[in-house]
Amino acid sequence: MKILGSGHYAPHTIVTNDDLSKIVETNDEWISTRTGIKTRHISDGEEASDLAAKASIEAIEDAGISAEDIDMILLATMTPDAMLPNCASTVQKKIGATNATCFDINAACSGFLFALNTANAYLVSGMCKTILVIGAETLSKATDWSDRSTCVLFGDGAGAMIVTADDSKAFCSVSGSDGSKGSVLTGAATPLKNMLVNSDETGKEIANYYMQMDGQEVFKFAVTKVPECINQVVEKAGKAVEDIDLFLLHQANVRIISSVAKRLKVADHKFPVNLDKYGNTSAASIPILFDELRKSGKLDDVNRVVLSGFGGGLTWGATYIEL
Ligand code: UT7
Repeated sequence: MKILGSGHYAPHTIVTNDDLSKIVETNDEWISTRTGIKTRHISDGEEASDLAAKASIEAIEDAGISAEDIDMILLATMTPDAMLPNCASTVQKKIGATNATCFDINAACSGFLFALNTANAYLVSGMCKTILVIGAETLSKATDWSDRSTCVLFGDGAGAMIVTADDSKAFCSVSGSDGSKGSVLTGAATPLKNMLVNSDETGKEIANYYMQMDGQEVFKFAVTKVPECINQVVEKAGKAVEDIDLFLLHQANVRIISSVAKRLKVADHKFPVNLDKYGNTSAASIPILFDELRKSGKLDDVNRVVLSGFGGGLTWGATYIEL
């Protein structure tokens, strides 16, 4: 797989830690030291498809193609505009990619990685030639703004890549899920209401609408699973950890990223971070980071990259790519 172009977009309104300290009992010191987050972008009306379309238009221009050249749009999100139509189809309409087959992928913070793996499978099979892969989230609408343990963590944004088949560039992935631990990170339950049952009456599902997280369990899972799957993918690619130029991890918490670097015995500078500006944007975090690095020239001398996502499901994965 070859990455032809990339783009990203985040809503213009920036919310600081001090802003949050006015709505919940928190402070900049706690948020900065526990997470590394300083600010996040919050939508003042744009939906996930709006963010995704803006990131995609930038990626299309960067790739030097036209929207009609795209034969598939894969959009990773857990906060789509609606259940129907799927968000990828809404993006198709907004960018004029009339020849694309469109569908969404929901694997929370691993979503972009799984979408990229799916794109690779379609390219390898010959079913598609040019695929737009997007991660886009409006997590602000799934956030309980009265819960200080979660509301300080998340942000809105989108990142996109245009990919095509290229035999000269290796692509290798490992991934997994553990549904038995799904309850540590939940949200957006839809009440079952039909002719037989009205679960609104219990109020249970409504309480579950917003994201709820057992932060420490997710933290422990991330710092063990991520190094494990990175080691696996590097071995599968026939490389050593030292051969990897950059590790682009899902941006959830700077302490998770440092811990992974330490466990792999790799210097911190090989793990770029931008969560200080964006917070945790779930499926959007890896493509936003990739595009920022690419546009600032920091990928110019980079060849071997490992991407790694982890989160709700539980889900995890690592993918080796060559630029
Ligand atoms: O995208 C993938 C999913 N998410 C993650 O990867 C997140 C993984 N988990 C984490 O990053 C961390 O567990 C958190 C940042 C969420 C929390 O950090 P922690 O060091 O695990 O803190 P904690 O939950 O143990 O809370 C410590 C204290 C508690 O007070 P007491 O009980 O010690 O008095 C909390 O009530 O900090 C309190 N606290 C806060 N204080 C100020 C929790 N949230 C806040 C807050 N401001 N925003």
